[in-house]
Amino acid sequence: MNLILMGLPGAGKGTQAEMIVDHYQVVHVSTGDMFRDAMSQQTPIGLKAKSFIDQGELVPDEVTDAIVKERLSQSDIQQSGYMLDGYPRNLEQAQALTQINQELKQTLDAVIDIQVPTQILIDRLSGRFICRNCGATYHKINHPTKVPGTCDRCGGHEFYQRDDDQPATVKNRLEVNLKMNTPLIDYYQKAGVYHEVDGNQNIDQVFQIIDKILSQLH
Ligand code: AP5
Ligand code: MG
Repeated sequence: MNLILMGLPGAGKGTQAEMIVDHYQVVHVSTGDMFRDAMSQQTPIGLKAKSFIDQGELVPDEVTDAIVKERLSQSDIQQSGYMLDGYPRNLEQAQALTQINQELKQTLDAVIDIQVPTQILIDRLSGRFICRNCGATYHKINHPTKVPGTCDRCGGHEFYQRDDDQPATVKNRLEVNLKMNTPLIDYYQKAGVYHEVDGNQNIDQVFQIIDKILSQLH
């Protein structure tokens, strides 16, 4: 099964991805996570991506398309399929992905678009914190850890907030992503794979809807 998780910043792509991989055999591929790994290791791609990410801008398509193509070529994905999180973000990337799928003989089964009103996204991003050890995502109010200060998933005790969750960067991230959204939705509606999900409900309710869509794909 090959999937795309679409949604504006804070819509819950990463949160739902964690739940989907627990239930379905699919490899989570987040371009944001790949760039953050590259930045922390200070690789050439990481150094290039940093200036864009810090401003809430998109990393140039040629850089992003290349890392996705390389990742989708790997054997775990050939075997289990992919779940892209945060890619594609514009029409050009969607067209690049269609080309990559053709070259790798992969078929896109579904695009899940998690829709949430903008004001709620701002609240979600300002309250987000992440486990430094395993990357599990929480929210101060909506989704705290069960035991304060301890990660539910790995038992880790260190958490961090993302640099790009500062209010000014969040504002630009939302503007940049909103602009690109409509052509992307049109593209996948025409391809007959687009599913809109109301993401303005609690995490388990959103997962139930996604689960229903995915269970019908098998
Ligand atoms: P990326 O890391 O993908 O960031 P994003 O798209 O801005 O999305 P987020 O990760 O912030 O949000 P999410 O939807 O995963 O929400 P989450 O589950 O964490 O990309 C970062 C940057 O990298 C980009 O700005 C760009 O510069 C670059 N980049 C990445 N991909 C690129 C591409 N294709 N092209 C070019 N550049 C690219 O949830 C958010 C919070 O809400 C959490 O606290 C969570 O606990 C809470 N929450 C989740 N669901 C719910 C719910 N249902 N109810 C209440 N709270 C909830
Ligand atoms: Mg994310």
